[in-house]
Amino acid sequence: MPKAIRRLIKDAVLESDGYAAVMSIEETAAELGIPVSDIVKLDQNENPYGTSLGVFDTLATYDHFHQYPDAAQRVARERIGEYAGVPADRVIVGNGSDEIIDMLFLLTLEPGDEVIVPMPTFGVYSARPPLYGGVVKTVDRKQNFDLDVDAIINAVTDRTKLIFLAHPNNPTGNLVTTQQLVRILRTGALVVVDEAYYEFSDNTLLPMLGEWENMAVLRTFSKWAGLAGLRVGYGVFPGKLSEQIWKVKPPFNISVAGLKAVEAVLDDIEFLRETVSRIRVERGRLYRALRKLNFLEPYPSHGNYILCRVTRGDSHDVYRRLRQQGILVRSYRDPWLRDCIRISIGTPEDTTVLLRALRAMAEEV
Ligand SMILES: Cc1ncc(COP(=O)(O)O)c(C=O)c1O
Repeated sequence: MPKAIRRLIKDAVLESDGYAAVMSIEETAAELGIPVSDIVKLDQNENPYGTSLGVFDTLATYDHFHQYPDAAQRVARERIGEYAGVPADRVIVGNGSDEIIDMLFLLTLEPGDEVIVPMPTFGVYSARPPLYGGVVKTVDRKQNFDLDVDAIINAVTDRTKLIFLAHPNNPTGNLVTTQQLVRILRTGALVVVDEAYYEFSDNTLLPMLGEWENMAVLRTFSKWAGLAGLRVGYGVFPGKLSEQIWKVKPPFNISVAGLKAVEAVLDDIEFLRETVSRIRVERGRLYRALRKLNFLEPYPSHGNYILCRVTRGDSHDVYRRLRQQGILVRSYRDPWLRDCIRISIGTPEDTTVLLRALRAMAEEV
């Protein structure tokens, strides 16, 4: 890069690898020479049943696309507040919960401030802080992926601003206990409990927010509600923090399509709950079947995915061979998960196709 351009760019950006975008489903289908409809997409924890038909109707009949969305997100916040059982003024809607994570960095980080991330976990927590001058301190989880609370507490310094806890954790599927959370809250750092997969676990730490001023809860409509493509997530904050986070929110961060979609899915919540319960049933079926394979060790999961250690052969080879058959799962390069794949829970038909492919591999290893 010419020096004249290089000097314009922050070091943290120059040093960052950026987000490695997965190939789109259309490109993948074209490369494999199969129709998009034949791809079994089990790589991004989406709802395989899609979203509510109400979303299609709402967007097809909406006639104000030429006007800006409501920057205060009033109706969506009211509806989310009712759904989550919290006052609307504690809720802020983000362009995916990813955006709320970024807002938290904007809200808290001065250069040199620290963010504690228990590994392995969702990649965004550690990828983004350097862009805001923050320093990531990773803390290993225990062998079974449980939080190492003592190690987290030991990692806290007077520069620690944020500690991220995914509940359930992506990709390992395990939960945080109330006792663990209380010990971590006592450090005084802002503890972010990310409940992106709450609806699949039916286990929430949100009620703790009433007792602690240094806690935030994140949720999303991407997973259970089938709105990953429309990008809507939300954060719930205690009073003092909720006043401040509004100052860092980009004014029109959610499109009218996203705001209207929130209303439509919450109007059709029974349908979506039905899809969630089917996914939970399927999770049990897939887990039991995976345990019987001689080369995979699945971890029990409270999310809509199952992490598997590849105990014989190479995980990237398993990933590639599934992909050649049009079955997309997630593989990893980072040291904690290099020998793992993560499989999102699909429909019963998806599970059948996947298991057929895995059983064929099992016969060979
Ligand atoms: C733990 C966790 N948090 C947050 C997100 C981001 O979700 P979104 O930005 O789609 O709301 C994800 C997505 O995979 C996730 O796994």
